[in-house]
Parts: sequence; C-alpha cells; structure tokens
Amino acid sequence: MARYTRREALQLGVAGCIYKLHEPPFKAEPCDPERLKPKPVVSPFSPQIKRFVKKLHIPEELTPKKTTENVDYYEIKLQKNLKRILPKPYPETVIWGYNGMTPGPTIRHDGGDCIKKRRSSVVRFINELGKDDDGCDINAVVHLHGMASLPQYDGHAEDFIPPGYFKNYEYPNDHNATFWYHDHALDYTARNVYMGLAGMYIIEDDNELALPLPKGEYDVPLILQDKQFNSDGTVLFDTGRNRSLYGDVILVNGEPWPYMEVARRKYRFRILNASASRNFLLMLSEDCKRQTLGDEMIVISSDGGLLRHPVTLKSPFQSLPVAMAERYDVIIDFSHYKPGTNVYLRNVGFTGTIDSDTRSHTVMRFDIIDKAVKDDSEVPFELGEVSPVITPGTQINNERTFRFERNQGTWKINNKIWDKCRVDANPNPGDVEIWNLVNPGSGWVHPVHIHLVQSQILSRNGLPPKPYEAGWKDVFHLGEFQTVQVAIHFDTRSNNLETRTGKYMMHCHNLVHEDHSMMTLFEVGKGGPDPILSAPAQPVSEMSPF
Ligand code: C2O
Ligand code: CU
Ligand code: CU
Repeated sequence: MARYTRREALQLGVAGCIYKLHEPPFKAEPCDPERLKPKPVVSPFSPQIKRFVKKLHIPEELTPKKTTENVDYYEIKLQKNLKRILPKPYPETVIWGYNGMTPGPTIRHDGGDCIKKRRSSVVRFINELGKDDDGCDINAVVHLHGMASLPQYDGHAEDFIPPGYFKNYEYPNDHNATFWYHDHALDYTARNVYMGLAGMYIIEDDNELALPLPKGEYDVPLILQDKQFNSDGTVLFDTGRNRSLYGDVILVNGEPWPYMEVARRKYRFRILNASASRNFLLMLSEDCKRQTLGDEMIVISSDGGLLRHPVTLKSPFQSLPVAMAERYDVIIDFSHYKPGTNVYLRNVGFTGTIDSDTRSHTVMRFDIIDKAVKDDSEVPFELGEVSPVITPGTQINNERTFRFERNQGTWKINNKIWDKCRVDANPNPGDVEIWNLVNPGSGWVHPVHIHLVQSQILSRNGLPPKPYEAGWKDVFHLGEFQTVQVAIHFDTRSNNLETRTGKYMMHCHNLVHEDHSMMTLFEVGKGGPDPILSAPAQPVSEMSPF
C-alpha cells in the first residue's frame, strides 16, 4: 500500500523535491510488495503455554566502548538470533535483535551534572541483518524515541542503514526520562519491531539520582509486548490487511507472562508499551482473574520524565492506561503484602483494542518473598519540574488541526498519506503552538507521536488531562471520537542545547497504521540539516574504532 503511496506521490509531481536530484549513496534493493503478503494463518492461536513459568529477565545494561568527560560511545549490532521464548518441545524463535537480543540491551546513561554541560552519547548501529525470508535486504532505521536529536540522527523513516552499513547516531541527552530505541524503516517498522528491534534507554542525572526514589536493583524496566507464534516457534506477522497486529502471548522484557520475586519494599518500574498495536490498561490484583480492592500503583513519571507530583492509582476504579509507545514509571510498594502473596499485573482492557482473548488479561506476576530488606526509599511529593508551556502571558503563534482517520482502506492524516517531500506544518524555532489532534471515528484509536518535542496535554474533549498524563508527553492517545489539545514549544528543554531546525516526523504509533501510512512531516524553521542526506550510513568497510 505505502509503495503505491510513494509512486502516487511522484505522479502527483512533487516539484523541487531534493531527493530526486540526490539519492542517498546506496540503492536499496527493490522489493516486490506482492511477495510480502502475510503468510497464511495456520491457527488463530499461539501454542497454549503455561504462564508464570519464566523468571522476569532484566535486559543487560550496555557498557560504553569508550567514555570521555562529556560523551559515552556505544556500539550495537543488529543481528538475527534464535531465542527460547516458547518452552520445549516448541522450537526456538528466530528474532531480529540489537546485539542479537530482544529487547535490546538497556542503555543507562549518566546525564552528569545538570547545571554544567550535560553529557551526550554516540551510539553506533551496525546492520548485520542480511536478508528477510523473501530475499530482500533488511534496511534498518534507528530512532531514539523521546530524544531531541538533530534531524539527521532522529531516525527519519527513509534514512536507511542497509545491511553491511553502519551509522553513528548522536544523542544530546537533554532531559532525564525513560526513552526507547526502535526501528523506524518506512513501510516495515511494524515487522522490524515485532521481530525484536526495540530496547530501553534511560537517562538520569545527578539531580534525579539525588531524589530518594528506589534505585539500582529496585529500578526495573518492564517492556510490554504481545506476539503471536506459529507452532514451529516462528513469529506470526499478520496485520489483518494492514489494520493492526495483535498477539495472544504477552511478553515482558521478552519472556512470556513472567514472574518476579520481590522483597517487601518499594520498587520503581519503568513501564514501556512496545507493542505494535496493543494498548494496556494496567491494575494490580491479588487474584489473577478477578480484581481485588485497594491495590496501589504510584505514577511518578510520564513519557518525558518526572511528573510534578506523584499520582496514586487505587484499584478497582483507577487503572493506568499505557498506549503504544507510552512510558510511565510507577512505584509499587510491596510492603503492603504478606510474604507468600502473589500479586498480578493485570490488563483489564482498553477501548479500541479489538481483542477478546482473555489470556492477554494477565501481564505478569510478582511473588512476595520473605526476605528482610531495608527500604530507605521514599516518593517525594515534589518530583520534577513541569513548568506549563502556556501561561497567561504566552503568545500562541499558531493553532493547527490534524485529523487521524481511515479512508479508502488507508490510514491518513488530514486525508493525506506519507510523502517525504511534503511538510504539513512549519512552526518557527521557539514558537508555541496548539495542535488539535482529532480522532473523528469509532472502532480505532490512535496514539499520536510527535518527534523532537516534549509537550503538554491541555485537554481531551474539553476535559483536563488525567493527573498521570499532566506531565511531559510525546505520545497522545486519541480514543474514539476524541480531540486532544496539545501545547507545544518548538524548542529543546535544555538551555545548553541549540534550538533545532529541520524536518521531523509525526505519526500514529500503532505501527501498522504508521506503515500504511499515517505519518507526516513538520519542519521547524527553514534550512535545517537534511534528515536523509547530511549523515548517511557508511559501509562497514569504512568503519574505524571509536
Ligand atoms: Cu517511537 Cu516515530 O517513533
Ligand atoms: Cu519518536
Ligand atoms: Cu492509528
């Protein structure tokens, strides 16, 4: 569909588009989209496996190849691998991973002293993925979601790293938050992420580390995904004619329905929904099938970092919705439970997630163990700085409206499909704008992601945002018939960073919608670095060590 899309774009004649004159220095191998038809569905269900058998896996933290006073240098190879996801006798699963792992290694970066210059990083991604099942090159793109990267390091969907090439991405690390890196290749993001290309990236500076929040082994990533498996262990990639991609096995940090032994104390969990199309609505319960009362999660941060104040959600009337690509850090205090208790993280449904498989209603289990631990962590009432983007005196430079809808079998924004030569908004650097993100329909929801900026929700259908989403956000979940009003400052959140200019993407983070082709570009100012041409991938033969 999106191939037709680009052809259509060319037929429409995009006069003056620079990419006609200067193509990138390599040619991606042409692929016949007909060969990429979804494989026949052998069974509508994955093999039925037992839950809570595997221990929660904590992705390894990547050590830099080199560290200087202000920069950490990392290297990650994109590789195929075999991973035991289903238990024996099912075969192992072929995955595409960062360093052959899914999720990829966690990068936990020391942001340094928040007053002096912040520490940045360079991550070199080397594409060793080779070809897919149809004999086509697997062209990768890496995007660090949440980061105010320059356009050429932001993972523009057509800034490919072909197999045998590498690219050094530069990240300014301008704010503390839970970020994630994932594939962003045009038309293939859903497949590439589903095959495993996603990982977490954490930034914490002295300021945040000085807070008495749980740290070290008590600060735990929880990367939520769903997948469907064939009985031969392979991943079933079926988007239902480009509608959505659901799986009936819930993975946390790459393991199906894991359990985790926890001490009777507070933990910080960094929750990331890295699913292609599934939303979660999370609640704790002492019963796997039913909701017990009074179980608490304390939300301390949203996509872009700490909230101003913690937000306590108490079951059964308060749950935490986590749409695709959203991040929420929560504190769970297990000292409320007796040793030997099992506490389940449940998914109690989400409007617009079309799914009736009850197995997806459990995510994982916490087993409270009888171990004496000291807990000197606290959840301070004053967490982070969330100064409002709009105050009474703020000049609003522009207001724009974007409609996200399905039209003639295609996902569109303002009735348009992706075109790398078209820009749909032109804010000036430093401007403050209000964007109305509209989902005029029912049946589908759209988590809209705006690159580059961390923004604030002003309202949803005229109502104030929920307390846990009243912080810095880069994903805005549009429920059915919803309009979300967002205040955006087209600047970075650090005084030490120059204001960005150039082209950035906005898209629905249902990866199937994104691929077909609910994605567009906005351009901050004029004349910023070209996202595709100014730092193209290089052949591995030209790579020298850091
Ligand atoms: Cu998380 Cu444009 O991506
Ligand atoms: Cu992003
Ligand atoms: Cu969508």
